[in-house]
Amino acid sequence: MQKRISNALLDQLSEFVSVQMGLHFQKGRRLDLLRGVRTAAKEFGFEDIEECIHWLLSRPLKKNQIEVLASHLTVGETYFFREPKVFEVLEKQIFPALIRERYHNERRIRIWSAGSCTGEEAYSIAILLERLIPEIDTWNIKILATDINPIFLKRASEGLYREWSFRGSPYWLKEQYFKTTPEGFYEIIPRIRRKVLFQYLNLVEDVFPSLYNETNAMDLIFCRNVLMYFSPKQVRNCVERFHHCLLDDARLVVASSETSPIFSDFFLNENYPGAILYRKRSEKVTVNPLFSAFSYLQFDEEEKDTEIRKALPATVEEALFSPESPPSVPVTNKFAGEAEEAATDWIEEATTFYEQGRYAEALNRLTDKLKDDPKNVAAIILSAKIMANQGRLEEALLFCEQALKIDKLDAENHHLHAVILFEMGKTEDATTALKRVLYLESDFIMAYFMMGNIALQNGKNGESVKYFDNALQLLSQYRPEDILPRSDGMTAGHLREMIHIVTKREATA
Ligand SMILES: C[S@@+](CC[C@H](N)C(=O)[O-])C[C@H]1O[C@@H](n2cnc3c(N)ncnc32)[C@H](O)[C@@H]1O
Repeated sequence: MQKRISNALLDQLSEFVSVQMGLHFQKGRRLDLLRGVRTAAKEFGFEDIEECIHWLLSRPLKKNQIEVLASHLTVGETYFFREPKVFEVLEKQIFPALIRERYHNERRIRIWSAGSCTGEEAYSIAILLERLIPEIDTWNIKILATDINPIFLKRASEGLYREWSFRGSPYWLKEQYFKTTPEGFYEIIPRIRRKVLFQYLNLVEDVFPSLYNETNAMDLIFCRNVLMYFSPKQVRNCVERFHHCLLDDARLVVASSETSPIFSDFFLNENYPGAILYRKRSEKVTVNPLFSAFSYLQFDEEEKDTEIRKALPATVEEALFSPESPPSVPVTNKFAGEAEEAATDWIEEATTFYEQGRYAEALNRLTDKLKDDPKNVAAIILSAKIMANQGRLEEALLFCEQALKIDKLDAENHHLHAVILFEMGKTEDATTALKRVLYLESDFIMAYFMMGNIALQNGKNGESVKYFDNALQLLSQYRPEDILPRSDGMTAGHLREMIHIVTKREATA
């Protein structure tokens, strides 16, 4: 007979799981919790479930242990074109407008399926875009799909499905985008499979937005049937961070059963027949483009005719004293004693604003700094990151290159240069930048990781293995919970998982 677990112990376990993973098992779902932990206990090597719970509670969990637990506690219920009304709105309204807007300029679209499970949602989006965009190969489209459960991610990368994943899906789906395998699976065609990038990401613990896990500058975030498991505090935190990941006027999609007043604190509700979408309010009004940090950069003569420079005032004075410009806020204030403090405070303050997604305020601080000190590399680089996070890649690139002119030997800035170029789809230039990074700092883990990804993208699997191996070797010096240098807060465990997911995917390809 199975031993009875006390309610007090289950309460403790429930709290623990909520804090570590965001999985919120209310009193009514304690049986689900117990069932999950019972099967996880076997995988952890325990016969006795109570002993296993005490063991879990007695230590901070390692990344791989969180993953084991997640694989037993998360619900993998999903299917293609789930909630068809949402896909109808995307097909008829949202995507056509976005495609029209981007067709004549950057041809770039970024979508994130957060809590992607076994990939049906992300592949549905990839298929829809392919049906809507002629000459899709001339576009730079990123579909990022993340989950906390590595078993789901592995299945998603393999792209093998059973009949059950197609319930209610359009009639043409299987016929046009899958082939049947001798084992009776439906396998997604490689062209669509390659369009989705699957990555490990814990929405409660891990960092986003970040340039380095590509969660920045999104046009659309799907997070459906995930937040319902989180506590209200975790939902708020996650929704606020999604808000920072999205471009102005971009949208968040949650399941119709998940609507909550929390969303309205950050988004405008958009009601469509049978679907609600959440649109990020535009923040553009808070920054006067003529009064931007740009005005203070010192460009060389030959750069003066670039498109962006043409749109900018010719001189600092013009920017400062143009009638449209808001009044300047001096960095130092009236008390002489505070001047020195202010000299270092500006970067801390701007960084805090940046981390909180308050980009306009961060840029204002940086602009003030650049007005006094146009060659301040820290201010230029943070401005570049803010612009990249907002999808303003051309501007981010100009800033970053300006910083590199002032200081050619900073590996971190060359890495940022590479990340921006990669996001622009300029992979050859990104590779050159990464070579510079590794020349300057041969143990720059994030650079090896990116080299591996670029090699994979170019079909150079052997080369990618070499880069990933280098990254894994360097990662072995770190504990899973250690934050990696120059990674925007990414942990070693997270990166290791990301590498394992892409390499496993290739091994099964
Ligand atoms: C029910 S599925 C939803 C799948 C898909 N979004 C849909 O609506 O069809 C919920 C997914 O959320 C994932 N999940 C739960 N907690 C998570 C967390 N803290 N971070 C990331 N993913 C999480 C689970 O592993 C699971 O794959």
